[in-house]
Amino acid sequence: MDRHNLFPLRVRERHDESQHDEFRAARTRGHRWVRQFGLRVLIDYADVQAVLTDHRFRTSGVDYLPKRGVTSGPLFEWRKIILSTQPPDIHRMLRALVSHSFTAEVLARLRVSVAEHTINDCTELGRADTADLVTTIFHRVPIKSLCDALGFSPSDLDRLDIVSTELGAMFGGVVPFTPDEIRRLDDAIVELTQLARKAIADRRSRPGPDVTTRLIAAADSFGLGEDRLAAIISNLVIGGHGITRALLSCTTYTLLGQPDRWRQLAADPGLAARTVEEANRLHCPAATLPYVAMRDLDVNGLRIERDELVLLSVLAANRDPAQFREPDRFDPDRSETRHLGMGGGPHYCIGAPVARVIAQETMATVASRFPDAELPDPTVPWTPISQLRAPAALRVCLGRVPAASTPR
Ligand code: HEM
Repeated sequence: MDRHNLFPLRVRERHDESQHDEFRAARTRGHRWVRQFGLRVLIDYADVQAVLTDHRFRTSGVDYLPKRGVTSGPLFEWRKIILSTQPPDIHRMLRALVSHSFTAEVLARLRVSVAEHTINDCTELGRADTADLVTTIFHRVPIKSLCDALGFSPSDLDRLDIVSTELGAMFGGVVPFTPDEIRRLDDAIVELTQLARKAIADRRSRPGPDVTTRLIAAADSFGLGEDRLAAIISNLVIGGHGITRALLSCTTYTLLGQPDRWRQLAADPGLAARTVEEANRLHCPAATLPYVAMRDLDVNGLRIERDELVLLSVLAANRDPAQFREPDRFDPDRSETRHLGMGGGPHYCIGAPVARVIAQETMATVASRFPDAELPDPTVPWTPISQLRAPAALRVCLGRVPAASTPR
């Protein structure tokens, strides 16, 4: 598997700013949805939020793989036991178990490890004048940090990176996989599960201040089997790696488009939290979420039939002028901050505390290390439409490294 082939699938259309033109045009005509891939795409904040929080809808996790040609095999079996595909009572129990494992101590250690990895990766760029931050720091820091926080062995980092990159390509999109893609995804999930089982065995014999050690204790008291536990851990790896890379890419793209903002963050790491939230609202890596109605329903007066798969455009909702003043403007100080970039309702991103620590710490560290960074060409390539929405590359002029640039 090619480590740097981050965006391998075959869909040619790409994300970019012009996606918003279609949403604006639809709103101007008074429409609440557009049609894409033959499906209805809801675009209003109120509708998207209503579906996310309505228990009569379910995520389309169960039918997602068959639609893409995966009807049996390791990936299919794995998908059946992960968080998002469970019935409500089991789902609630598993979520409680996972969120209790993200303790204050785990998050504090994570912050330190993210800063260290970021400094090291910045240093590795050496004296290069330019670098693509997506395939270097933004790809590597999240997986290194997850490897530490989840209690994997550092010697498994490179394999973890490779398989999670391969599997990350599976999220989003409705185009059927080729037989070769399915074989690669199956191989990757088998290997990731083996790595998770190894982490579980290691942490059983040598407990540590990590998520897996805490999950083991909780799983044992709930009588949860090893398969489930390995599925949860691998779910956290896949759910957390590519999307954090995407959020870092979106945040950097936004800030380098307004160099004053970049320099402000370089000087004041306290700005990182609001900056990352607002970049998530504006550019939204988790751009579209598929949900299925479990009976005939009425959503704010919109009729949705039983079994209809609707796409929720978080991307459009997060720029709904009925919810956000001047929605196309990057404004980290805006008062209305309830964006849907981490979802909402029962499936709200369980990894949000981890995501925020990694994104905030990486951004603050990179900006302080390269305060004069510039994006010479603002027309960056975006990811294919079937994948998480973000710049696929950010070739940045790094500028001077301040003499006093040491770990914060
Ligand atoms: C960095 C930015 C991140 C963004 C923008 C993000 C976004 C989201 C969104 C929108 C959902 C809801 C999906 C739905 O409603 O169907 C979600 C769910 C989820 N996320 Fe994240 N995520 C991020 C990071 C992470 C991290 C770091 C982890 C793991 C450590 C993670 C693990 C998960 C899992 C397991 C779910 C499924 C939750 C459930 O079904 O109950 N995410 N995420």
